[in-house]
Amino acid sequence: MAVIKGEANSGLILCRTPQDRVEAGVPVIVRGEGCRVFDQAGKSYLDFTSGVTRPVHLGFGNRELAQAAAAQAAEMAYFTPMGFTNPRALELAAALAQVTPAGIDNFFFVCDGSEAVESAMKLAKQSHADRGQPQRFKIISRRGAYHGVTSLALRALGTVLPMRHIMEPMAPGAVFVESPYCYRCPLHLAHPDCELACARDLRRIIEFEGPDTISVFIGEPVQQGFGALSPPEGYWQVIREILDDYSIYLIIDEVICGFGRTGRMFGSEHFKAKPDLITMAKGITSGYVPLGAVGASDQVLEPIEMFEHLHTYANHPVACAAGLKNLEILEREGLVERAAGIGAYFLEALKPLTRHAIVGEVRGVGCWLGLDFTTDKKTRADFPLANLMSLVERARQKGLVIKLMGQAIELAPPLIIEKDEIDQGVAVLDQCIAEEAGAMGLA
Ligand SMILES: Cc1ncc(COP(=O)(O)O)c(C=O)c1O
Repeated sequence: MAVIKGEANSGLILCRTPQDRVEAGVPVIVRGEGCRVFDQAGKSYLDFTSGVTRPVHLGFGNRELAQAAAAQAAEMAYFTPMGFTNPRALELAAALAQVTPAGIDNFFFVCDGSEAVESAMKLAKQSHADRGQPQRFKIISRRGAYHGVTSLALRALGTVLPMRHIMEPMAPGAVFVESPYCYRCPLHLAHPDCELACARDLRRIIEFEGPDTISVFIGEPVQQGFGALSPPEGYWQVIREILDDYSIYLIIDEVICGFGRTGRMFGSEHFKAKPDLITMAKGITSGYVPLGAVGASDQVLEPIEMFEHLHTYANHPVACAAGLKNLEILEREGLVERAAGIGAYFLEALKPLTRHAIVGEVRGVGCWLGLDFTTDKKTRADFPLANLMSLVERARQKGLVIKLMGQAIELAPPLIIEKDEIDQGVAVLDQCIAEEAGAMGLA
């Protein structure tokens, strides 16, 4: 059990951290500034991951954002979301309606991305039920997808991570289609000759499951599952058309993509993926205060007389104050456009790394990039997890934070990252890849 023992035998349980890593010493991060964080021993890390789980869009140490949250806590920290409300939640709903995809005008605030996904699924289910179709309970997700760890969100978890299997049996109704992972196509086809078979296959799955048993399809516009994966042109239009034929709601999960990560305010803007519901978290407050949100269309809400749902911390004034200030700074500083520009620079800086025998593909959009690894570029053979972990560890020891995802290394820096920081970090990454390839006999 990965527990750090403290004074008087107190213990802190860590998330997804192996015991040997605890024994080797887990860095205690005490301070952050811009794209750097510092541990208790004074070691500095350049963070290419915005806090590893990727929320810190504005970078570390943003006093203006911190002060907005503190001021709200001092003025009015909390009052129930049931039968009462507060100005900051109303203002954030109004502000989001201006920037979210067309038709998404109604918002509900929770604490994180899993709760946002959970709430979106509940809204969709209640909407169908209140329209007289309570039997619509199934959720279609994609193999390789990650949408959170609470009960309904976990149903949509398409990864092989143990967090799904340990919790089985789960609520029934999880259905999966393949992801548009063109580098290693799960259908063994090649784009564009495939004619988007992975998207078209959705119709077959729906027909098999029974169209009037299905509530929602959930997917990220750009997918984390295999490492910053953009779908091929036309993918989302095909999905949307099929869902419309069966009156199935589309939840676009913007938990990572939202708030500028991909160089647009929302990832769905790239693909004309007109959603019925969207989910948000992470970059909504740049991680300064926990906040997640669901956005829903009028059509979803229309049959619902009263949403049968409650979180103590829903529509929380301090979190919403942070969300408002975060959006104000993103817009005032032009950080979404900046993410597009600096992201393009980052992608170009990464491309030369494909000269290494083990780097199969470099891809990405905005400030979300991935390097897909392989032991054989011709066959695109799988890359051992142990070697990816070793690569991440090499980087950490050299003061660079990167993240592994599937068979890829994923990079998602704060949107304020500078060119010289990109150059510095890419040089370290280059060195780590050379060392790992050497250790594998593939240099
Ligand atoms: C796309 C997506 N949805 C949902 C979640 C769950 O968010 P949280 O970890 O805030 O509960 C995540 C987390 O990484 C995510 O990437």
